[in-house]
Amino acid sequence: MKRLILLLSLIFALSLQAQDLRVIPYPLYMESQEGMYAPRGGVSTLYTNLKGKSRTELLDFISSSSLPLKVVKNQAKAHVRLLIDGLDPSYTSPESYRIEITPHGADCYACDERGLFYAFQTLLWLDGQNMPAGTGEHSLPLVKIFDTPELQWRGWHMDVSRHFFGKAFIKKQLQMMARYKLNVFHWHLNDDPGWRFEVKKYPELTDSTAYRAEYLWEDWGRAGGRFCADKHPNAYGGYFTQKDVKEIVEYARRLHITVVPEIDVPGHSRAVLAAYPHLSCSGRAYENSELCLGNEDTYRFVTDVLEEVIALFPSEYIHIGGDEADRSHWERCPKCQEVIRREGLSDVKELQSWFTLRIEDWLTAHNRKLIGWDEIMDGGLSPRATVMSWRGIEKGISAASDGHDVIMTPWQCYLDNAQDDPTTEPRGVGGYVPLRLTYAFNPVPDTISLQARPHILGLQGNVWTERISTESHAEYMIYPRICAIAENGWTAPERKDWERFHAFALAEVDFLHAKGYNAFNLSTEKGDRAEATTPIAHLAVGITPTFTSLPSPKYPGKGLSTLTDEERGSYNYQEGQWIGFENDDCEVTVQLDSLQPIHHIEIDFMQRADQWIWLPSGVQICASEDGEHWSVLSNEPWEVDFDDPTIRFQRFSWDGEATARFIRLTAKSSGRQGGWLFTDEFVIQ
Ligand code: ACM
Repeated sequence: MKRLILLLSLIFALSLQAQDLRVIPYPLYMESQEGMYAPRGGVSTLYTNLKGKSRTELLDFISSSSLPLKVVKNQAKAHVRLLIDGLDPSYTSPESYRIEITPHGADCYACDERGLFYAFQTLLWLDGQNMPAGTGEHSLPLVKIFDTPELQWRGWHMDVSRHFFGKAFIKKQLQMMARYKLNVFHWHLNDDPGWRFEVKKYPELTDSTAYRAEYLWEDWGRAGGRFCADKHPNAYGGYFTQKDVKEIVEYARRLHITVVPEIDVPGHSRAVLAAYPHLSCSGRAYENSELCLGNEDTYRFVTDVLEEVIALFPSEYIHIGGDEADRSHWERCPKCQEVIRREGLSDVKELQSWFTLRIEDWLTAHNRKLIGWDEIMDGGLSPRATVMSWRGIEKGISAASDGHDVIMTPWQCYLDNAQDDPTTEPRGVGGYVPLRLTYAFNPVPDTISLQARPHILGLQGNVWTERISTESHAEYMIYPRICAIAENGWTAPERKDWERFHAFALAEVDFLHAKGYNAFNLSTEKGDRAEATTPIAHLAVGITPTFTSLPSPKYPGKGLSTLTDEERGSYNYQEGQWIGFENDDCEVTVQLDSLQPIHHIEIDFMQRADQWIWLPSGVQICASEDGEHWSVLSNEPWEVDFDDPTIRFQRFSWDGEATARFIRLTAKSSGRQGGWLFTDEFVIQ
């Protein structure tokens, strides 16, 4: 049905002078005409056939909106009608809606209150468009819309642990999420630097770990990662009482947003272990961040907490985290090893999966569904689990192919990366994800099988707050990229169009600023690394170099000729123009077609401390006429600054006169265990 509507919309697009009405996310089908509906006196009458609580709630929302509307009881007298018509078979989702605006008013239809809510959101987008700017009058353009979401999970994730973000901030963002038809708020409620919601049975969680004496997360880490009492003179932090949680859940529900709580276990639990040290393998606080999986008290603790969680959160899905546990503690713990032996498990990965399965059984018995980060797959995936694929999309594809539901949220959805030149942008996790890259992300990749496709429920934008400490900084990272997340989830891929979206996003940034949101100023975007935008001609282009040891299969770039393809890498090392060497030197030799005069050689390396990508500790460039006798052209040692958290690019070069057929470059690894070397183009001129 959707494809048919799409086809019709394309035909109409050809036959009509369609005006580009600005709506994010872009509707499935939109046919506009010249003209408008504008009520006399500037106020429209409104009728809805919704009943009971849904009626009250929708009318409450409408009365707080910017549309001047007066509710009437007589449908025939209404200009704007919001009607439930459950019979229309074209609705593919409870969120689908139709709108028809004529010179006499607007008719909106849906089979569910959610659809009507979204129809109204679209009216808010349309209101005043086509009017001369600044007239401020209520009017609607003449248009027919049929709209339905491509994907059912369209989320915004917020970490309130690394830095604390309170109730007013969350509500303010939820308002905007509803405008973009996002319907999931994934609330990351605990992590190493603080437990953030009241659990009646475990008061120490908030009494002793919701505050710390250092404001910045990094300072907290450097100072030893300890907690303090709320009365400490430098106390920083906070938590949500159960009353606060209920208030936010209810606030979100009225905006048709489900709040999915995350209790991140068994890793990221430093705060838990500070409050209840007996839950760690050693029995001592502040030694690690992993719950002991050989201790029955751990299972009791988690299910006790979940008992309170499910009483507060009606969400069908409960997120149990599962990411980034340092499993080595379980290797050394006799209690964990005893479980491995007793249960016939083969290793600590399976131990984590055994634990996840027990939690899943508990959630199933309580009519809830388990969702976790993709590490829950490492030791075998629980039978009913839903996977949040964040270490790329491959885990998600694999889980979906095995019949599991999946939410895609790889790096393109990590809104803690800079969205412009990362060397000058406000601090983030260190990477570069401009609006363009977030928008280009397709959560349902072409490579996925037809059977697996329906298992991709959707996507979400993640805001991790290690380096985001203020509300204005958080908003800066969220907007306008969350608009791209929304459109990726809602709009059919065939309807997506970067030029159109970019123009809409520019206008949306003005709207956001006017509403008091500190959105990134897209109109002054500098764009990608200058070197990456123009090809560089040189003698080695097209010649595949030889490598003493090959790049890591994790970062092969576009193959072995990545270094000689004329293209330098962007700020983002994941885009295929950078190749990476793990714990290794980069030694590469180019053999030119013939003996040639050489006067300039250069190569760039990247440093990104958060990803353990370091500059080399030295670069040597050698030349040879025959491939046997070498002369050293340059030998430049480099002192790697491991404490420099900023992304940086360093060029190593040689200038002079030489005649050579073979050029060899040797970049020495920084020497730090687990570290990476990343380079993009070996330029020989
Ligand atoms: C994650 O980013 N650790 C899920």
